[in-house]
Amino acid sequence: MTLPNSDKGLERVSTGVSGLDELIEGGFPKGRTITVTGGPGVGKSILAIHYIYEACKRGEKTILLATEETPEEIKEQASQIGKPFDKFEEDELLIIIPALRERMKEVEWRRGKTSPTFIFKNPIEIIETQDADNIIIDNLGVYTVDVSIGTFRNQMDYLVNTIRSKKMTSVLVCDETVDERYSRVALYSVHGAIELFKRENPFTGNVERLINVVKMRGSKTPLEYIRYSIDHEGIKVLETAKQ
Ligand SMILES: Nc1ncnc2c1ncn2[C@@H]1O[C@H](COP(=O)(O)OP(=O)(O)OP(=O)(O)O)[C@@H](O)[C@H]1O
Ligand SMILES: [Mg+2]
Repeated sequence: MTLPNSDKGLERVSTGVSGLDELIEGGFPKGRTITVTGGPGVGKSILAIHYIYEACKRGEKTILLATEETPEEIKEQASQIGKPFDKFEEDELLIIIPALRERMKEVEWRRGKTSPTFIFKNPIEIIETQDADNIIIDNLGVYTVDVSIGTFRNQMDYLVNTIRSKKMTSVLVCDETVDERYSRVALYSVHGAIELFKRENPFTGNVERLINVVKMRGSKTPLEYIRYSIDHEGIKVLETAKQ
């Protein structure tokens, strides 16, 4: 039986990280939303840079909503791992929206309300007005202070549906605090979720970087954590899935 909205057989787009595509049946499902979560310094922004670089190389129009760093800082980080953004910006394939400033306005806007009902107002306005293939938000956490879990879930669903109706593929970077504050409910709204973390190997005593494919609808995903490294070329997946 084929389900009308089956996620199986969705077109895939490369994540830009060698070895990660293989863990999720060929890449991120096109036109869907994926979260990338993890603590500070695990490589969330670097993974986003890989995706952006690859998407622009395919000739896709891509928007990066940067809420934590300036466009200059992000471009510097991208260049440092050999994935310069300048040409893509020149060709108007990549638009980096410096949401740092908007974020401040948003906080002001929310302070004036007793019950914030539209926490992703800014990203949604951008998604609705821009015609792009991809939207990356780094980091979504900054939009999510002071709302109940129920409101957050509704607003996440609304954001994800808006992105989907525009047929954009979306990577939403979420820091650990949003994950903890909202009991990981963001993970239920989205199509796929990748978690990056560090852990001490009890046998070697060394700290390892690990990827957990929390979910990827319509894909066979590894049940084990997969080791990765970060170097001057960015993220490298060091293992394949065992089963
Ligand atoms: N050339 C390199 N060699 C080795 N490690 C590197 C190199 N460049 C970056 N890193 C590692 O990548 C980390 C930064 O990755 P990134 O900025 O993507 O983290 P993040 O998860 O986005 O963190 P945050 O939550 O602070 O935004 C650094 O802390 C460092 O450990
Ligand atoms: Mg970051």
